[in-house]
Amino acid sequence: MIRLENVHKQFGARKVLDGLSLNVHEGETFVIIGPSGTGKSVTLKHIVGLMRPDAGEVYVDNEPVHSATPPQLEAIRRKMGFLFQNGALLNSLTAGENVALPLRQHTDWPEEKIQAAVEEKLSLVDMEGRGDVMPSDLSGGMRKRVSLARAIILAPRIVLYDEPTSGLDPVMSNIINKLINSMKAKLGITSIVVTHDMSSAYLIADRIGMIYKGKLVEAGPPKELLKTTNPVVRQFIDGKTEGPLTAEEVPATGGGRGWRRK
Ligand SMILES: Nc1ncnc2c1ncn2[C@@H]1O[C@H](COP(=O)(O)OP(=O)(O)OP(=O)(O)O)[C@@H](O)[C@H]1O
Ligand SMILES: [Mg+2]
Repeated sequence: MIRLENVHKQFGARKVLDGLSLNVHEGETFVIIGPSGTGKSVTLKHIVGLMRPDAGEVYVDNEPVHSATPPQLEAIRRKMGFLFQNGALLNSLTAGENVALPLRQHTDWPEEKIQAAVEEKLSLVDMEGRGDVMPSDLSGGMRKRVSLARAIILAPRIVLYDEPTSGLDPVMSNIINKLINSMKAKLGITSIVVTHDMSSAYLIADRIGMIYKGKLVEAGPPKELLKTTNPVVRQFIDGKTEGPLTAEEVPATGGGRGWRRK
């Protein structure tokens, strides 16, 4: 469904992606972890075609993103929702108008239908009736939730989330985790989720992959990843939890079952 092959990308002298390969299957939630500055956001930007690789290939639904023309890119992007790390709302528009934007750009729906869709998505992220508020009057977590409503408004088959739970309190993080899981279960959505939040990763992931020094160093179901002998991955996941987790502490397949530290 989403495939990166041997992708290289550098900015000036700084090599960020150094032969990154990744394959995400249809209907799967793939979680990407890795240290700050390692190229996780850059990877997502290659998938939506906001960045082009210096070398290598990127496919979404078997369509080449790396070589797409602007109209082809437009068609590919139509299938994808993207939640940016910083929220990226337009400050001149209300929260509701931000959510409505993709509908205004890509559909000719009547106003009434647009408003109903906006309200429905706002209530999904617990922002019911808050459509009139300006982004500058929202907290960071609220802006993130409005961005999420906007990312899913066109009912995309693929959703890319860059740090969906960062800056959210545990209750709200849980709402977002459940939303990601229910979109997978009900709609068969394929997702890539970049996160630093390991408890969220264990709750939502079918597979977790770690990017380190520009490559995918390891990927597998949460339970498999916890058995890793790769010292880099080991150190990262142990450091993110209070001491090493045992395989028994995470669900067998991830994706929606409860995970709780004993
Ligand atoms: N447009 C750009 N121009 C120049 N350098 C960039 C650009 N975008 C990203 N970088 C650099 O690429 C590296 C990887 O950035 P990226 O945002 O992908 O990191 P990340 O893994 O998402 O980190 P974090 O966990 O902090 O979000 C960083 O060194 C960053 O400064
Ligand atoms: Mg990032």
